[in-house]
Amino acid sequence: MTSDPAVIAAAADAVPEVSLEGIVKRYPGVVALDGADLSIRPGEVHGLVGENGAGKSTIIKVLGGIVPADAGTIRLHGEQVTRPTPSVISSLGVRFVHQELSLAPDLDVAETVFLGQEATVGPFLSRSQMRRAASNFLESYLGASISPTRLARDLSPAERKLVQIARALVDGQARVVVLDEPTAPLAAPQATQVFEAVHRLRDAGVSVLYVSHYLSEVQTICDRATVLREGRTVAVVEGDDLHSASRLIELMAGRRVDELFPTAPHPPADTPPLLRVEHLGLDGAFDDVSVSVRPGEILGIAGLPGSGRDALTDVLAGLRAPTRGRAALAGRDLPRGSRAASARRGIGLIPRDRRGSGVVLDLSVGDNLVLAALRSVSRAGVVNGREARSTARRTVEALGIRTPSIATPARLLSGGNQQKVVVGRWVAVDAPVLILEEPTVGVDIGAKTEIYRLVSRLATVGTAVIVSSNDTEELAGIAHRVLVLRRGAVVADVDTDEADADRLLALVTGLERPEEAVHG
Ligand SMILES: Nc1ncnc2c1ncn2[C@@H]1O[C@H](COP(=O)(O)OP(=O)(O)OP(=O)(O)O)[C@@H](O)[C@H]1O
Ligand SMILES: [Mg+2]
Repeated sequence: MTSDPAVIAAAADAVPEVSLEGIVKRYPGVVALDGADLSIRPGEVHGLVGENGAGKSTIIKVLGGIVPADAGTIRLHGEQVTRPTPSVISSLGVRFVHQELSLAPDLDVAETVFLGQEATVGPFLSRSQMRRAASNFLESYLGASISPTRLARDLSPAERKLVQIARALVDGQARVVVLDEPTAPLAAPQATQVFEAVHRLRDAGVSVLYVSHYLSEVQTICDRATVLREGRTVAVVEGDDLHSASRLIELMAGRRVDELFPTAPHPPADTPPLLRVEHLGLDGAFDDVSVSVRPGEILGIAGLPGSGRDALTDVLAGLRAPTRGRAALAGRDLPRGSRAASARRGIGLIPRDRRGSGVVLDLSVGDNLVLAALRSVSRAGVVNGREARSTARRTVEALGIRTPSIATPARLLSGGNQQKVVVGRWVAVDAPVLILEEPTVGVDIGAKTEIYRLVSRLATVGTAVIVSSNDTEELAGIAHRVLVLRRGAVVADVDTDEADADRLLALVTGLERPEEAVHG
């Protein structure tokens, strides 16, 4: 960022690198974009913010030539682009990292990084050179060591995102890079690598469009930001307006948003545990985890990727069988390694990989919402349609899910709204234990508040809630206690009355000595 007024004035006068004017995009029953404008100056990092469904991904797809606009003009480097197609746009130097993590599952990392770039780099590289180049780029540019021969389908969401970013940048020809929620699946240290990559791009004179629900990210790395609301550009902010979170939120929501974290009361100290975990271990993932959760208690789980956090929730949810130890619900051992049996025992799960196992994209919003509640809306295996529909409508209302109707296929909803559908599904069931993994990744501040409110409401009525999250602020805000895992071991079990987000982050990353934090 420069603070030289003469340089700033020159940039403001320069022909915008990208200029979208009056973009309209209608879908059946939805106006996704209603005359939106977006202008990016040469060499600036420009933020794009807005609530779920505001039209952020759509305007990016219009710019990318993936989605045709019904009206409006696109100019790149001052020239109008009359027929935007992905290849025309790409040849003009605009690169995209889309929000979706869709990679061809059977290609390896090197092939994925270079796919479609044969014309610029491909023919000059042998297979082994390609592998070396891919892994060098990932390592040096994104600080990620990912073997170039691994298949896309075996990568974690974070690794997939990093490969997707590498793919957009590897040819070094980008003039404009568009990043749609790039850090959503990433943990803090990896997100930092992405910020560094953004800074490097800016230093090289490349313009960046940065979409994120993490307003603090946008405030830190962007020079200006466009705020979209219901398909329209409501403001382009910089300076103090950009750096005021309440101002941004107000612009996004069109209203003031109050307190983010509601507080669920601690359950009485003499409440016996509902879920009791003793010396649980899974080879190669974690060992000797003992913890108990009482009804009405919200237990957070913190830990970097590879800390064993995901494996632990997998075991608790029945997705994988433990190697050692036991987990019991209300005194009875839980099934080992059967998700279906665990669900029947009342372990609800809102999984981290929502595209894979969360939302059934081809089903309607309504069917998705009643999927887990099927038993409560059916008698003797016959679904009561009316009851199912009214359950679904109630959930849509309660979570503010933006959908034309409950009959709309889930695939047509925006990313964040799909997420609310997954959360809503388990809310409709009275599961005694609910495990939520990354419950608010990709959801806007309004929906976040709704989800936190729901979690605390569930706890208040006696659900034992487990929240596993990358976001230490979220854990500090919503959980009563947080279990911190590092390299497969529990390094702390702290009360959030005593540990704030920074303290949790220090524990997670190991920048603090663990001994003083362990208690109980
Ligand atoms: N292919 C489609 N068919 C029908 N409706 C769509 C389609 N794609 C998007 N929409 C609708 O257009 C609106 C804007 O969606 P978009 O994905 O652009 O939102 P977004 O701002 O990216 O939200 P999020 O923060 O949740 O990612 C939403 O109401 C969405 O349901
Ligand atoms: Mg989006």
